[in-house]
Amino acid sequence: MNLTTLLSEMTLAEKIGQLVQLTPNFFEEGAGEITGPLQELGLTQENLFQIGSVLGTHTKEQVIQIQQAYLAKSRLKIPLMFMADVVHGYETIFPVPLALASSWNPELVKEMASLSGHEASDAGIQVTFSPMVDLVRDARWGRVMESTGEDPYLNSLLAAAFVKGYQGEQAELETNYQKIAACVKHFIGYGAAEGGRDYNTVDISTINLYQYYLPSFKAAIDAGVKLVMTSFNTINGIPASGNQWLMKTVLRERLGFNQVLISDWAAIWELIPHGVAPDLRKAAQLALEAGVDIDMMTPAYQKSLAELLTADDISEDLIDQAVLRVLQLKADLGLFHDPYRGLLSEDRRELLYPEIAAASRRIASQSMVLLKNEQEVLPLQMTQKVGLVGPFATSQDVLGAWSWIGDTAKSVTLAAGLKASLPDLPVVGTDDRVNFTAQEREQMVTLAKAVDRLIVALGESSEETGEAASKANIALPASQIRLLKELYAVNQNIVVVLFNGRPLELSEVFAHSQGVLEAWFPGSEAGNAIADVLLGRVNPSGKLTMSFPEKVGQVPIYYNQLRTGRPLTVENQDQKYISRYMDVSNDPLLPFGYGLSYTNFEWSVTQSSQNLSENQAITFEVKIKNTGRYSGKETIQCYVKTLFAEVARPQRELKQFVQVALEAGAEKTVTLRITPADLAYVHSDLESRTDKGEYHVYLGNSSLAPKVGEIYFQ
Ligand code: GLC
Repeated sequence: MNLTTLLSEMTLAEKIGQLVQLTPNFFEEGAGEITGPLQELGLTQENLFQIGSVLGTHTKEQVIQIQQAYLAKSRLKIPLMFMADVVHGYETIFPVPLALASSWNPELVKEMASLSGHEASDAGIQVTFSPMVDLVRDARWGRVMESTGEDPYLNSLLAAAFVKGYQGEQAELETNYQKIAACVKHFIGYGAAEGGRDYNTVDISTINLYQYYLPSFKAAIDAGVKLVMTSFNTINGIPASGNQWLMKTVLRERLGFNQVLISDWAAIWELIPHGVAPDLRKAAQLALEAGVDIDMMTPAYQKSLAELLTADDISEDLIDQAVLRVLQLKADLGLFHDPYRGLLSEDRRELLYPEIAAASRRIASQSMVLLKNEQEVLPLQMTQKVGLVGPFATSQDVLGAWSWIGDTAKSVTLAAGLKASLPDLPVVGTDDRVNFTAQEREQMVTLAKAVDRLIVALGESSEETGEAASKANIALPASQIRLLKELYAVNQNIVVVLFNGRPLELSEVFAHSQGVLEAWFPGSEAGNAIADVLLGRVNPSGKLTMSFPEKVGQVPIYYNQLRTGRPLTVENQDQKYISRYMDVSNDPLLPFGYGLSYTNFEWSVTQSSQNLSENQAITFEVKIKNTGRYSGKETIQCYVKTLFAEVARPQRELKQFVQVALEAGAEKTVTLRITPADLAYVHSDLESRTDKGEYHVYLGNSSLAPKVGEIYFQ
């Protein structure tokens, strides 16, 4: 298909139509996911049958029906594209991304993306609005569940893994219809919303933008991601969707992204309430001039571009460039060859539920983090009398936000998962997550008195996380804490299982339990995956990728904070004029990289040398032994501190990590390498390079790792 020739045959109205995206309910009543404010778009039927793409369909039948109806009316037979939010699964739901990230396993993330992309493509989805790679530091923001956390290096590895999983290693989208195009989002800085309040103002210095927020987008683009989505927020005072510096200088030129840029939902129209456009016409002009190709769910482009062209306020070349990028994406997806991407063929291999469910269960168990395990209260022993209580004991609200097509009614509850192995397990669940009846409380306390181990399932609801779900208070509901205290008063052998999508204040939970398992929102196979961990079939190996504050007042809190001119140190703990709080510590309750195991690991480190020069590497040989009773996996993390630099640098930064799986008693030697490139940082001229100088190296199983050596780069 010669796209330039096709473009030359298109009318202006047909070109503009390609830049418009709508939900399927414009084609049929009540269908599809509504993930943002709806407004009267005032489009004609002719407009409708000229649009370029649809977002939020549910079934392949719906896609086939809309595509057939559309092509029947399309003069040039340019197929529609179908997009959706396949964020952590389509019909079969996997753990939320903040949980997936806790596996520290790019291959696992890639597998999840590949499976969910296949399942989505079976339903006619051709593009997913994933991965979300926003760096996050504020647990009040509901969308932290969608992110992979606070570290740019780990976020970058996982961003590339998502893209490769959805699109395939070589982005073989044109021929392999099980692969779908990925859309990295939200460009950029959305996670830095002031106060953790969704859609709020963002003000990031350009050097921090380049240092911390850009790397994950660069990684996705270098991995071949097909689309980028704009963010709702301002950057340097200008909303991203109308920001030429951000989209042309940074995205297109610096990052070399030359494919489709899609607005977020109504983000072009939102230039008006942002106060940078007096009307839709100006909003459309700003967005097109910034290089936004697709207008998601507003009439801005549909209603304004022709008039802007007539008035010579924009050039037709700008429109043509955008249309060509959209047509190129359709060609890359093979749509001109088969507008249904195999949906109509008899021999299409659809994913079988047992296969993807088994993967969801395995991946969920790898994403959980053991936060506390005193007196080896875990794993549960089959000889013990175990009971299960609490608002999440029998809850099917285990999918988490952004699991649109996932069927909650089919999700496996914690009770069901445990009963599969403990058929006589006594369970007292509650109907409500917050309000417990006196009878429910009495039954739970009675059960607590009668068992050796009591599992208490607590958490936040899916609706309290995700988009438009910011919270100023990130503690569990007071009623859940009261219940936990009542239960702990009669049985201290309590294991709390947490269902949540954000870091929570857990001091009270820690004070009234022996064990705490962070299960996050595990997805469709929740109960089975948690049972695998609680019963020791899987030794938990997850590590936190976002700090858990002691108090929400510490937020934003993250391990790679700058040192300040008055750092709090061991030596000056009793001084006043230091960067500290008077009422809480500076430290999180649980740090980045933290996670326990049922077994123990010991290791020694040998550094190859201290002097590093160009084209060389310093190696750290880690001899690690599993000294416990269970096989398990440890994630050895290597952090580096730049002693002196042109700009203030963090206390330490993650540079490498390696995961080591060992049977009980086994040992292994692994090597971590630090090269000059690992030590680079963005200087005040916004260029990244490595300074000569002294670097300290920390190595261990969390961001609290001890210092193990020094590097002198000459
Ligand atoms: C939403 C979200 C974005 C999502 C889009 C389409 O507002 O911000 O992440 O992909 O709309 O649903």
